[in-house]
Amino acid sequence: MKHLIDIKDLSVEEIDELIEVAKDIIKNPDKYSKKCEGKILATLFFEPSTRTRLSFESAMLRLGGNVLGFSEANSSSTAKGESVSDTIRVVGEYSDIIVMRHPKEGAPVVAAEKSIVPIINAGDGGHNHPTQTLTDLLTIKCEKGRFDNLTIGLCGDLKFGRTVHSLISAMVRYPKVKFILISPEELKIPSYIKKEVLDKNKIEYIETQNIEEYMNKLDILYMTRVQKERFFNEADYIRLKDSYILDEEKIINSKKDLCIMHPLPRVNEISVKIDNNPKACYFKQAKYGKFIRMALILKLLEEC
Ligand code: NCD
Repeated sequence: MKHLIDIKDLSVEEIDELIEVAKDIIKNPDKYSKKCEGKILATLFFEPSTRTRLSFESAMLRLGGNVLGFSEANSSSTAKGESVSDTIRVVGEYSDIIVMRHPKEGAPVVAAEKSIVPIINAGDGGHNHPTQTLTDLLTIKCEKGRFDNLTIGLCGDLKFGRTVHSLISAMVRYPKVKFILISPEELKIPSYIKKEVLDKNKIEYIETQNIEEYMNKLDILYMTRVQKERFFNEADYIRLKDSYILDEEKIINSKKDLCIMHPLPRVNEISVKIDNNPKACYFKQAKYGKFIRMALILKLLEEC
């Protein structure tokens, strides 16, 4: 049985296969509309979500399957003190595959140890978010046509932003990928990622606080929200939340084919005035999320 806890659980070849299936689903949705008939996907969300939960549910429904679950910890027996392991053990009896989001880093690993069905990590604290990365990879493939030879600017909360951590882990496997890491001093990428992912793979990267400094070099600009829920101190959040606000002026020197991405939700970090700029890819990105999740469900349920 296969789980998806970390993006590295998938090889480069498996990612290519998922992307090909997702592209085929986009072209021929009818071919897939009954593939998961009789199967049930459970979504256990101990933390808020819009896109991840609803795109998983939509994905399963579009495959002809059914869904059940909860969208806040307080409406489940967690509020009575039940452990994640016990919840997972039981929900495995009611479903064929489980998608879970949890505020504790590592919770999906514990869940996978006890689970009798495949577990998909839909975000664990400030750690990882592999299915957002699959969404990002499908977006990059469709919008840029390649994974190699890209200069990627990652901007905002690089400390707590789990989507950034998983995306870096995925992209270091492709040749000639460089990163420009743009963040305030307090929200720099964690040192374990620098040592174990970037340095270990001999990846070129630059850290800066200035979003415009390398704008003309970027193929992708990946904006992120300052992760309010991970701060211990509200005053720090208030001080840092508007560190970057991307607007038309800041992208004046960017490449013609710059692709601006954001996992969403956006708070204030991208001006709505950019939404109709051809460089803005974030709403397309959210759309791709459903298709790659359909491909992932099929793979983990061994239906294709
Ligand atoms: C992200 C997350 O949950 O980490 N959202 C998402 O899944 N699309 C990013 C965020 O919440 O800022």
